[in-house]
Amino acid sequence: MTTPSVQIPAHAHLQAGGTSVVLDLQSADQPIIVHWGEALGPIGDDELAGIARAARPQRVSGGLDETARLTVLPQESGGWLTTPGLEGDRDGADFSSRLALTTATLSSTDAEFVLSDAAAGLEVQVSLTLGVSGLLHQRLRLVNRGDAPYRVGALSAGFPVPPTATELLTTTGHHLRERAPQRHAFTVGGHVRESRRGRPGADATLVFVAGTAGFGFERGLVHGVHLAWSGDHRLIAERTPTGDAVLRAGELLRAGEIVLAPGEEYETPDAVGSWGDGLDAFAARFHEELRARPTHPSRPRPVTVNTWEAVYFRHDLETLRRLADRAARVGVERFVLDDGWFQGRRDDTAGLGDWWVDAEVWPSGLSPLIDHVRGLGMEFGLWVEPEMVNPDSELARRHPDWLLRARDDLPPSGRQQQVLDLSHPDAYAYIAGRLHALLDEYPIAYLKWDHNRDLVEPGSGPHGRPRGHENVRALYRLLDELGERHPGLEIESCASGGARVDLGILQRTHRIWTSDCLDPVERLDIQRYTGLVVPPELMGAHLTSPVVHSTGRTVSLAFSALTALFGHLGIEWDLTAEDDETLDAIAQWVALYRTHRGLIATGRRVHADLADAALDLRGVVARGGGEALYVHTQVRTSTAHPPATITLPGLDAGRRYRISITVPVGAGGYLGQSPLAWESEPIVLSGRTAATVGLRPPVLLPHAAALIHAIAVDSPAG
Ligand code: DGJ
Repeated sequence: MTTPSVQIPAHAHLQAGGTSVVLDLQSADQPIIVHWGEALGPIGDDELAGIARAARPQRVSGGLDETARLTVLPQESGGWLTTPGLEGDRDGADFSSRLALTTATLSSTDAEFVLSDAAAGLEVQVSLTLGVSGLLHQRLRLVNRGDAPYRVGALSAGFPVPPTATELLTTTGHHLRERAPQRHAFTVGGHVRESRRGRPGADATLVFVAGTAGFGFERGLVHGVHLAWSGDHRLIAERTPTGDAVLRAGELLRAGEIVLAPGEEYETPDAVGSWGDGLDAFAARFHEELRARPTHPSRPRPVTVNTWEAVYFRHDLETLRRLADRAARVGVERFVLDDGWFQGRRDDTAGLGDWWVDAEVWPSGLSPLIDHVRGLGMEFGLWVEPEMVNPDSELARRHPDWLLRARDDLPPSGRQQQVLDLSHPDAYAYIAGRLHALLDEYPIAYLKWDHNRDLVEPGSGPHGRPRGHENVRALYRLLDELGERHPGLEIESCASGGARVDLGILQRTHRIWTSDCLDPVERLDIQRYTGLVVPPELMGAHLTSPVVHSTGRTVSLAFSALTALFGHLGIEWDLTAEDDETLDAIAQWVALYRTHRGLIATGRRVHADLADAALDLRGVVARGGGEALYVHTQVRTSTAHPPATITLPGLDAGRRYRISITVPVGAGGYLGQSPLAWESEPIVLSGRTAATVGLRPPVLLPHAAALIHAIAVDSPAG
């Protein structure tokens, strides 16, 4: 029940999904989050008051007469002398605000505060919401109540983390190697990760995590933040010399990007905080909340074939029909025609923007292929890259003013392309019109929506304003509009692989293309760390051809399939070149995925913290703990020979499980010289024993993997 308050209470306690947020509403001008983390249960006002009092810092020598507090929007006027929550000005004036709490609206899971500074003519609405799984969402809305324009420099949400958080984890990367983890000490000062690419970028950090030293996936208290935004952003981890530590997340605004006229407002993207004992618990909060959305894809994820690595730009109806035949034979349910189908698109130098089916290559349109695909019982999907334009296109020739630029010259090109200003009403109308027309003309169930370059100087024209923010908003509007006009349409977010992975885009799309790298060796980490936010069923994972195109490595089908298993399975491989034996083997893997995809799409993802870095053990545990599926991978040779025991995390400690292992034929090889004791006859262990004592894994060649299946043999206790 929501209680708007005339009189502001002394504290607030939000609780949901095993998480508590305690706010002190009295000790400073603004609310202070004095606890964010473990649920505290039904505690009374006296204890809340105790928490608030216990958190008050003393005055110290050399400091201000009152030690500044880390409030929801810390500001210099309150003595906060590190990164403020709001930066902006009116041509130099009102550079420092004094926003104080004026109203609070509270429920058991939500808090809405209005902070006002009448003198500066500013108001900020701060909303905090705890989601079903305990994710903390923060949104800020700044309103210009003054009578002159206010230029917004930065507005960010802050998430305080405990002093035990001494280590930071972020991700970095590049095309073909997204979300590579990096860790370092959380020392005093600001640690900044930002994107200035107009999209998050392959190097963007998906999360900023702070935790106890050496935290892993199973253990170690971690708190972290993700920004649900598909454009420029700045994430900061800041430890102050006065004993506070905070993670800040906000959009990165270019000079003059947001100037609020009197009465106008700017709303930040959703900043989302998670926490847990170990990164798996942290990730589970994201997965659970995403799965609870009414829009979450609930039907079994259709096994997909994507034509890119099979044919690239070599579009030819007969070849593609043969590929479709082969795809249907191995159990594929969705056929996606990638780049190369539209006007003038014979390679990647031309055509983007001219969204008509190329009459030379497709004289009868796409129907002959689509009819064939659908006749085989598969859905049809189509690749598009609506925000991009090749200078060599009719669109660029006719509407040069629709391209983003900051001067007469165009910005440096990327993949021979420039970027359409989707915030230009005519450009938007054109693109929306073309997409609607295609979707109306053909039975297209799925769009692969690509975005293949960083934005450079994204301005509205010579001497114009930066348009990065408006372009993200226009993109969201367009995706929403497509969803409304074409019910049932699914969209994949791709950006040179995984350069646009965030919860802003995922609110409007149905999966992400995780990476252009299909090499299972690389994919192990790419998927592990993408999974910190994205649940497996939204993560595209494709079988590669035996020689991986992007790395040149030769890998076994079994290794590729077992690595792709915990994702949304697809195939990206010229199946027309394969013999019956290989197609049969692929069909078996597809069948295995189809058997377990329900579990994969609903279960809890787990990773064992193993001492042997040459091993990777990950799995999915069914809700209720009745079953679990694990993949054990020998990433490289272990120093121990045979390797030491591994553990199986996530099972119900008090239940017993029948645990079996399959080392697939063709998995690259079994190296043990005597049988593994529990291989021929499944073993029965309790969940506690499996997670603590563990068991010996098979001795495998590097790049081989085995499947471990645990099924409960008794009911849950109680
Ligand atoms: C980049 C994507 O990541 C690939 O999967 C493919 O769709 C190409 N673009 C097509 O140009």
